[in-house]
Amino acid sequence: MTLRPAGCASRPPKRDLLSLFDLGAETIRALVDRALELKRLRGRGEQPQPLRGRTIGMIFEKASTRTRVSFEVAAFELGGHAVYLSPQGTQIGRGEPLRDTARVLGAYCHAIVIRTYGQQVVEEMARFAPVPVINGLTDLLHPTQVLADLMTVEELRGPGALQPGRLRFCWIGDANNMAHSWMNAAALLGLDLSLAHPWGRDPDAEVLRRAQAEASRTGARIVLGHDVVAAAAGRDVLSTDVWASMGEEPESRAEQDRLRQRFAGFCIDEELMRKAAPGAMVLHCLPAHRGEEITDAVLEGEQSAVFVQAENRLHMAKALLEHFVCPG
Ligand code: CP
Ligand code: NVA
Repeated sequence: MTLRPAGCASRPPKRDLLSLFDLGAETIRALVDRALELKRLRGRGEQPQPLRGRTIGMIFEKASTRTRVSFEVAAFELGGHAVYLSPQGTQIGRGEPLRDTARVLGAYCHAIVIRTYGQQVVEEMARFAPVPVINGLTDLLHPTQVLADLMTVEELRGPGALQPGRLRFCWIGDANNMAHSWMNAAALLGLDLSLAHPWGRDPDAEVLRRAQAEASRTGARIVLGHDVVAAAAGRDVLSTDVWASMGEEPESRAEQDRLRQRFAGFCIDEELMRKAAPGAMVLHCLPAHRGEEITDAVLEGEQSAVFVQAENRLHMAKALLEHFVCPG
């Protein structure tokens, strides 16, 4: 005799957001449109409440300001509730198996947002949790941030800005989780993306392989290299991120020196902006290290969309919660 409750088998399969490939181009465009609509509604004081009576579990094994707060506020403003779980404050930090945590939280919550190290951790969470799991950043990917970035481009460059052939995108910096999710987005949407990353910091081979395979289907152009000026020349949207991601920060003076040497020249400064397309937009997911990957003048300058981008995390979090928690 099974102890599984009757009716479970007939539930529709739940969906997760572990990578932008879980969404596909059509859903990405729909989420961007919906997030823009939710932003307009909030501006008019009209707030839909589809999450009434629903709770979002928030597991964060790394620091976060934007992701954590935007999802918590999004849940609240949509009429729901968010529960924050730190590893130290829960049994996760004492080694309770993830698969047990996933099933228990899945019994209480209607979705789980998780920020952690390995992509395999979010995959295991999704396998065992009976509710949608949203990747709030891993070492490999940061899909919710890149969705807000795409929304920002559409908002500031107008409808159709994300159509193939409209804008030329560029990534300057580490081939990290953000770069990987940008490669996924470009591949899926058929965008033209050039990346300049330092020697010795190559993108993940499987992420690159899958992006190039998808690009050959959608007509996307994804070009990698080490020349910052070549990557930025004539580009409409320039994006960057910290030289050292969470968990990879240099600890000794020697490691700091090596990082500086490796990333020398990987900085969006005013001189590089002059090489980009006139009026090019600058994005940075934040937090930023002014004077390293971006200068203060560029971050605070007229071409910076960074704080619109940060605000848009909230509207995109709402669109995602609606989509995953209240489908249909
Ligand atoms: N950009 C971003 O994900 O910021 P947090 O680390 O503050 O969440
Ligand atoms: N690449 C950065 C992104 C922070 C939002 C990191 O993983 O630390």
